[in-house]
Amino acid sequence: MAGPLALLSARLQPAFDHLATGADPVVRPSTREGVDFQANGALPLAKVLGRPPAELAAEVVAGARLDDLCAEVDVDAKGFVNLTLGGEWLAAAVAAVSADPRLGRSRGERPLTVVVDYSSPNVAKEMAAHHVRTTIIGDALCRLLADAGHRVVRENHVGDWGTQFGMLIEHLVDAGEAGSEELSVGDLDGFYREARAAFDASEDFRERSRRRVVSLQSGDPETLRLWHQLVDQSIGYFAAVYRRLGVLLQPEDVVGESFYNDQLPEVVAELETKGLLVESEGARCVFPSGFTNRDGQPLPLIVQKSDGGYNYATTDLATLRDRFGRLGADLALYVVGAPQALHFQMVFAVGRSAGWVPAGREPVHVAFGNMLGSDRKMFKTRAGDVVKMSDLLDEAVQRAAAAVERKSPDLTAGEAGAVAVAVGIGALKYADLSTDRTRDYVFDWDRMLAFEGNTAPYLQYAHARIHSIFRRAERDPAALLAGAPAVAAPGLGEPEERALAVAVLGFDTAVGAALESYSPHKLCAYLFELAGSFTAFYERCPVLRAESPSVRESRLLLSAVTAAVLRSGLGLLGIEAPERM
Ligand code: ARG
Repeated sequence: MAGPLALLSARLQPAFDHLATGADPVVRPSTREGVDFQANGALPLAKVLGRPPAELAAEVVAGARLDDLCAEVDVDAKGFVNLTLGGEWLAAAVAAVSADPRLGRSRGERPLTVVVDYSSPNVAKEMAAHHVRTTIIGDALCRLLADAGHRVVRENHVGDWGTQFGMLIEHLVDAGEAGSEELSVGDLDGFYREARAAFDASEDFRERSRRRVVSLQSGDPETLRLWHQLVDQSIGYFAAVYRRLGVLLQPEDVVGESFYNDQLPEVVAELETKGLLVESEGARCVFPSGFTNRDGQPLPLIVQKSDGGYNYATTDLATLRDRFGRLGADLALYVVGAPQALHFQMVFAVGRSAGWVPAGREPVHVAFGNMLGSDRKMFKTRAGDVVKMSDLLDEAVQRAAAAVERKSPDLTAGEAGAVAVAVGIGALKYADLSTDRTRDYVFDWDRMLAFEGNTAPYLQYAHARIHSIFRRAERDPAALLAGAPAVAAPGLGEPEERALAVAVLGFDTAVGAALESYSPHKLCAYLFELAGSFTAFYERCPVLRAESPSVRESRLLLSAVTAAVLRSGLGLLGIEAPERM
């Protein structure tokens, strides 16, 4: 069920095609009083065709069938086409969306297999700020993709391999020998730092670490056992964080760097057969065309170091080969911070030359900006350490509990606890998702937990407030929605009712736009606007005390569908919407 924007575009398209094949009608919401949408496509076309825009717009309007959708269509002097939906059409559309379990959301034209690489923290290390972002953004994208009917394969590309494991394993051995109950990595970052310190302090430790790397690479069983111990403990910790954060990732989604070990020699061998390998200063490299350094020299992607070891880039070439090959991906998303942009551009370019990314399929680096503290510096604890994820989650819930206590003192203790979790975790996720991901994002507890502004608590509260109307009316919103087409379609006499109806019908467009550019903030902006339209409606239009039973019924329906869209939209972002708060 397409929203009005898509419908109007589709209706205008043939008339635009008539002027110039494939010309975009450019339908956008209108900011003019009493006008719902405008089609701006005549303006760019006028330049191309060398004709006055208003004349083109008039031709388009004459050639398009709009009378069943629109009550008014007019062309202004500049060539904009103003489109106002008809009240009856609008009412019928709201009734149809209300009864639709998907609330008007269409599915992708063609179901795709989409691999989403996200979260991907490193073993024996705390999840850093960028891991928080990829986990939250990647998870919302997985939900949006699955909702649109795509087959989603989640992959958690955990950093579980590399020379640092020599030192980590030796430290694990020493920690065990120092008499701890069981070998334990305990506090992950502390463990990593201690291992590093031992490495820096002692030549003996360094030598043992080097030997350990060799044993690990040659598959020595005892070494592998210790390695597994490190990996399993970290994955256990990550899983606990994911559970609390309410993300979809499961331990079985871990396809770590080590998974590709056996494939790396083949990756390099294939590059060689394809004539792409170049020996440079002892290392084996590929020079993808179009990449140069500051001095204009070709930039190498090193795939095998002079000591024979493989690296991060080799492994990512293997991920391309595996995802487009074995997994049959149409699309592979890499939800990773912007600082790795060059890495992915080069890896994708090499993957294409090597034939691992077939034509028509696409790897995408879904990049995001840094997470900054309120001082606009990198997000760290006051002491300058990485913020522990479990501490961050504790603090979110604690702060939310205090905010909920202030706002809703009447909740029972049990309710308040659950609401605090929904609000705290929701606020943390929403603050991240509601900023354009490509920008840096400033972490600010007070702002994210505010009940005003574009925040999770504001939307959750708007949703709960609608449910409280239904509790007072002793009515079930779900039943009302299900029976919507049978009930008289909502009367939309007041401008605020009409505006709310148009907003409700924009859900499909917003979800589509968010998915199109992998930008959850577009869905957030929509939900914020919808909640704003509801507030304006609720201030102006009495629901329970409406002037007649039919107006009351129609306003209840508008309220119910608004709540349903808020809940479903938040759900697509991985955020809960309690009915009472
Ligand atoms: N483990 C890496 C890091 O912490 C992220 C890995 C992202 N995924 C990938 N396929 N390279 O920065």
